[in-house]
Amino acid sequence: MKPSRPATRSALGRVTANALVSSAFLRLDLELDQPFTFLPGQFVMVNEPGPRSWTFSRPFSILAGAGTSLSLLYRVVGRGTAAMASLPRGAAMQVLGPLGEPFPAPVEGSTAVLLGGGVGLPPVFAWRERWGGPRDRAFFGARDGGEVPWEMLGNSWGISVDRAEGVPPGRGAFTGVVTALAAAEAGLAPGDNGVVYACGPAPLLKAAARLARAQGWRCWVSLEEHMGCGYGVCKGCVVPVREGNGIRNATCCFEGPVFDAANLPDLGDPSVLPGTAGGAA
Ligand SMILES: Cc1cc2nc3c(=O)[nH]c(=O)nc-3n(C[C@H](O)[C@H](O)[C@H](O)COP(=O)(O)OP(=O)(O)OC[C@H]3O[C@@H](n4cnc5c(N)ncnc54)[C@H](O)[C@@H]3O)c2cc1C
Ligand code: FES
Repeated sequence: MKPSRPATRSALGRVTANALVSSAFLRLDLELDQPFTFLPGQFVMVNEPGPRSWTFSRPFSILAGAGTSLSLLYRVVGRGTAAMASLPRGAAMQVLGPLGEPFPAPVEGSTAVLLGGGVGLPPVFAWRERWGGPRDRAFFGARDGGEVPWEMLGNSWGISVDRAEGVPPGRGAFTGVVTALAAAEAGLAPGDNGVVYACGPAPLLKAAARLARAQGWRCWVSLEEHMGCGYGVCKGCVVPVREGNGIRNATCCFEGPVFDAANLPDLGDPSVLPGTAGGAA
């Protein structure tokens, strides 16, 4: 059964910490003016309040949250994230959330295979923190060793890197894509009840869906489409989803960002309907 979504609130946050946790990722910790609950896979829309506000709020998956604290993990890619990176301790942030459909909770007797790529880490990290068990397997892929938030991940995540530079002495990393590492090391046999939970760039999601199909596992993915409003109104985030015998557009922000990979023709299900983008796996 799907957990019901916590109520969405608009809150004012104050920055308590905002610092690099690797060469490429910053962690933003906020203290909110009201308690906040979320489910793994949900996100928030953030903005600066007042005259410094951006035209559009920006979506970020929730890394962690408890009571009045909320944490995000982000990479600087443009104007909004550059502004975020310059926020000092005590600066204000407007937060709307939690938003979107979360990842499902674990199914009795299943083994989770968690796959995070780059700043797609937060939703799968949050899943593991909330629901992870001893049988579950977690894998994180980065461009190089410097990008990996080693301290945050501890020793229990399998790490893959595109380039081996920056891997600290005493730590190991597989060179190659994170799905290849998961296929080699997840330790599940075909037919075992594996469930993939993945977030990252499109090639990772396609490979995750392919891995799950090959193994007969269920696969849930969290998409990071461009978003305007974050709550289903602007229709700027639609993605094609399979429904019955057809394809329809779903709002990624409200019906997702988490979807069953089998319902996303863009992820390359071979049973995709003719005339869609599904053959690209
Ligand atoms: C549900 C959801 C969860 C997300 N979670 C995270 C997260 O945990 N950490 C994180 O760092 N980022 C996350 N993102 C992406 C994040 O929202 C964008 O990086 C951010 O909005 C960029 O804002 P900007 O003003 O810095 O960049 P802009 O100036 O708006 O854009 C700069 C560049 O980034 C590209 N870009 C902008 N938004 C996206 C996007 N959604 N996907 C891919 N490319 C984009 C633009 O095309 C452009 O090339 C998430 C997105 C979604 C939809
Ligand atoms: S971002 Fe506006 S409808 Fe999804």
